[in-house]
Amino acid sequence: MKYRTLGRSGAVVSTYALGTMTFGSETAETEAARQLDEYTARGGNLVETADVYSGGESERIVGRWLGTLDEQARANIFLATKGRFPVGVEPRDAGNSRRHLRRALDASLVRLGVEHVDLYQLHSWDPLTPLDESLGFLEDAVRSGKISYAGLSNFTGWQVAKATTLAADRVPLISMQPQYNLLVREVEWEVVPACIDGGLGILPWSPLGGGWLTGKYSATEAPTGATRLGEDPERGVEAYAGRSARDRTWTTISALTEIATERGVTLSQIALAWLHDRPGVTSIILGARTVDQLTENLGASHLVLTAEEVARLDHASDPAAADYPYGAPGIEQRARTVD
Ligand SMILES: NC(=O)c1ccc[n+]([C@@H]2O[C@H](COP(=O)([O-])OP(=O)(O)OC[C@H]3O[C@@H](n4cnc5c(N)ncnc54)[C@H](OP(=O)(O)O)[C@@H]3O)[C@@H](O)[C@H]2O)c1
Repeated sequence: MKYRTLGRSGAVVSTYALGTMTFGSETAETEAARQLDEYTARGGNLVETADVYSGGESERIVGRWLGTLDEQARANIFLATKGRFPVGVEPRDAGNSRRHLRRALDASLVRLGVEHVDLYQLHSWDPLTPLDESLGFLEDAVRSGKISYAGLSNFTGWQVAKATTLAADRVPLISMQPQYNLLVREVEWEVVPACIDGGLGILPWSPLGGGWLTGKYSATEAPTGATRLGEDPERGVEAYAGRSARDRTWTTISALTEIATERGVTLSQIALAWLHDRPGVTSIILGARTVDQLTENLGASHLVLTAEEVARLDHASDPAAADYPYGAPGIEQRARTVD
């Protein structure tokens, strides 16, 4: 396992984080505890959850597991959670207002069985709450000792830039979670540069595109069985119809398959190794249904791709920005050198 400091902070985290979105849904508690044991035994220290995962059950499972650790093992964990979405039945109990976030953070601390978390993240932008109000809440939460650092999730480029500017000298804003993987690279146009400029460490979510980059789905047969899309082909951003209709999905999987075969490793390991060394990325948030999947994915921590392999993957997965402003003429226009 490798380690990096997270954003402009001195906090050291492993370059693979353990996401817990499956806990309490696809993954039962005993299997979840085995994943947490395996992850920490392999040197992982960043455990990432959210109040909304499995209606709060993911945080409860993580909390019960933390309760089994001795003091030193507990102190080694960098614990991250998120708030913003409704957890109960009342849809208006949501957003990034001071009122909602105070209640959400306190409820997360109770479910996790802790007095403070290392990182508290705004799960998404809130168009109804002035950003200054949300940052004021985070500032107070740091001062009261309930959180050590603050982070963002699912903000667009201008939203990241606004948040880092407003937070300067006020809130230790250190990270941002976007969806980022070989099938979703549009974040490279605005979000990634805004994070680098603002000193935020990037924590990519869905690094395997929800399972697509393992090669488990086929262009010719609808998904079946105990897989995300076998259970629900219309599920979220990874829905089968959208991704299977895109040529880029299949050129990317084909390039992954070639490189994985040449290296004698799996597609998921190649996809993770590609993401590991992208500019701005600090720690990849892994997701797994089973401990076997997690073990396979952690196997990527030993892999470093060659420049030629990276170029092949970049080419196959190119999101094809048009000419301007994100394509070649725009990039050239903004470039400047001293000679
Ligand atoms: N901030 C946000 O809005 C946000 C959103 C989503 C996720 N997240 C975070 O990011 C974490 C990871 O996201 P994700 O779960 O979507 O990640 P992912 O790695 O893209 O997908 C994980 C899923 O892919 C399949 N899989 C993983 N490894 C496999 C392997 N080696 N072989 C075969 N199948 C494999 C499993 O699904 P099946 O076995 O069911 O097919 C697994 O649940 C979450 O736990 C959460 O902490 C954050």
